[in-house]
Amino acid sequence: MTLTPWWRNAVVYEVYVRSFADADGDGEGDLRGVRSRLGHLRHLGVDALWLTPFYRSPLADGGYDVADYRAVDPRFGSLGDFDDLVAAAHGHGLRLIVDIVPNHTSDRHRWFQEALASPPGSPARDRYLFRPGGPAGPAGAAGPAGAAGPAGAAEGPPNDWPSAFGGPAWTRLPDGEWYLHLYTPEQPDLNWRNPEVRREFEDILRFWLDRGVDGFRIDVAAGLFKDGTYGDLGGRDRRALHGPVYARSEIHPVYRAWRRILDEYDGDRMAIGEVWTEGPEDLALYLRPDELHQVFQFDLQLAPWSAPAFRDVVASALAAVAGAGAAPTWVLSSHDSVRHVTRYGRPGSAPGLGPARARAALLFMLALPGSAYLYQGEELGLPEVTDLPDAARQDPIWTQSAGGEPGRDGCRVPLPWSGKTEPYGFSADGVRPWLPMPAGWAALTAEAQAPDPASTLSFYREALARRRLLTADLPDGVEWLDSPETALIFRRGPFACALNCGEDPVRMPSGSVLLTSAPLHGDLLAGNSSAWLVPSG
Ligand code: BGC
Repeated sequence: MTLTPWWRNAVVYEVYVRSFADADGDGEGDLRGVRSRLGHLRHLGVDALWLTPFYRSPLADGGYDVADYRAVDPRFGSLGDFDDLVAAAHGHGLRLIVDIVPNHTSDRHRWFQEALASPPGSPARDRYLFRPGGPAGPAGAAGPAGAAGPAGAAEGPPNDWPSAFGGPAWTRLPDGEWYLHLYTPEQPDLNWRNPEVRREFEDILRFWLDRGVDGFRIDVAAGLFKDGTYGDLGGRDRRALHGPVYARSEIHPVYRAWRRILDEYDGDRMAIGEVWTEGPEDLALYLRPDELHQVFQFDLQLAPWSAPAFRDVVASALAAVAGAGAAPTWVLSSHDSVRHVTRYGRPGSAPGLGPARARAALLFMLALPGSAYLYQGEELGLPEVTDLPDAARQDPIWTQSAGGEPGRDGCRVPLPWSGKTEPYGFSADGVRPWLPMPAGWAALTAEAQAPDPASTLSFYREALARRRLLTADLPDGVEWLDSPETALIFRRGPFACALNCGEDPVRMPSGSVLLTSAPLHGDLLAGNSSAWLVPSG
């Protein structure tokens, strides 16, 4: 008998380290803070935690700009703190996965500093993507265009590719060469055709595997190779980067090599890729048995609050992974998206609508086959903080869009643990957290919610405890039962889940009810709510 590997049905909790818990009182979360709150995660009932980057970094992009992949940034602690955290997590029966950022380094990384100090054409520059400029024109107009090259001719960037965060994807050096950065100028893209880059990352994987991590979340996993012709998008939007960047077949041998490394270690070490693709076929390529164990499937997070939309998402997510024999993954919120409590509210709707739908969505997600990735704070029902003062905002999306886009700070506000006022137990009393925390979060703290059986925290705990008992042996597919158009009911073996996305109540199948996101009225499931049940017959 083969045992199901732990990650296949796991509930993984994303810890945004900087905002989780601050043990050293500097206003930013740290590894000792995470360790101090492992009891919360164990009691919540998750299987694993995923730590966002805590490596040495100037934090130009919240740590996704790594200056040293083998060091802990002093503001987050030390390698000793990391080792203690791994041991303590394992002691609590929790797995621990870490982020790896292979597409780009920080501009403060030793390699990039060497590249800056070395001439065009040198081996140090070959680790990144340096190119000569192109003619000034539409492409040039996107950048710091019209720059005079060494020969004095006006020139623009090598092509018209935009950065994901706004502005051009190229920055020019004084010697006339330009370097590519799909994100901020402080995140130069690596040249994955250079064997030294490949060797370095294989070594970094081993470094963290040797320290006991259970796996990796691979950042921008599909983006490592770029079409070397660097053709212009010619007025098409960023999605047109798919072909020249995000659908390159050269990527797969890299992950095959990574898989071989993971397989050298005992204990089901795994990797999940952050892969954005245009179609399900591309996803399945990453999931071949000798590649990644999982990829993120973001469609649930992107879907509107609509029963037909959710049904399509589930059907296509299951179809995407079925061929590869892999299990699907589900996400409602992350450090990159507006929190779903807020997303599901409607402008002008009653304040309870977003939270009600968020609870309903949780039962729906946890009933599906595969694994679920939770984002810290969703167990407290935290909303997006939409009114951060401009001066407090730190996300490069805010600065690169010149204030046109609010960016992702609103979902990264530190967690409220206890007390009545900022910093709500996140830091020592009197410490100002790195992002301001709203007045009025006293009722949302973990401390306030824990004793209340009707709280979101109690609801999450109950749902996760029941899921653990229920779903391990259920079939991997779902069988849709008849339901009104505004609702969904699916069955997995003896277990069923009903979700009512409409406003009016719908009748539930007969059977015994296990858990609901809102009170039932007889056999009627209220609008914007969901239930788990064992149908009779
Ligand atoms: C991460 C983001 C980050 C970007 C660049 C994303 O996928 O989740 O937070 O800004 O990669 O590293």
